[in-house]
Amino acid sequence: MPTVTIDPTGERVHLDPGETILAGLYKAGYAFTVGCRRGGCAICKVDAVAGTFTYNRPVADNVITDEERADHTCLTCRAVPEGDVTIRLRGETLRLVNPFLAQLNARARQRAEAYAASRAAASPDATPPPAADTTPAERTTKE
Ligand code: FES
Repeated sequence: MPTVTIDPTGERVHLDPGETILAGLYKAGYAFTVGCRRGGCAICKVDAVAGTFTYNRPVADNVITDEERADHTCLTCRAVPEGDVTIRLRGETLRLVNPFLAQLNARARQRAEAYAASRAAASPDATPPPAADTTPAERTTKE
């Protein structure tokens, strides 16, 4: 479950798998200036500070140039994070327009983090099972 962090203000938003950054932010009650929401106007560009993403559909070269792709420019309406990402908006701040949705998203993120922590604790790699308590005498009697 990817998390998007906003740099430098620190808001954190939990995304569903396959969800675009823009869709996740809006679903969580946040907004910033965007245009078409379809990968055509380039208004939703941000800088990807950390993490990787892919585009859910091809993005035209006149919307994101090769230099921008190399500079980690991110078209949020098409970008799907591959894991946790950190983005920085260009020339504006993220606005909280629906605190109730933000609260729901924060709870979903906390549940996902708790689930991931419990899975990691239960993993055989994280906690090796206790060694079998067998003595040579016991082995003899079992054979
Ligand atoms: S909103 Fe137009 S390209 Fe993202």
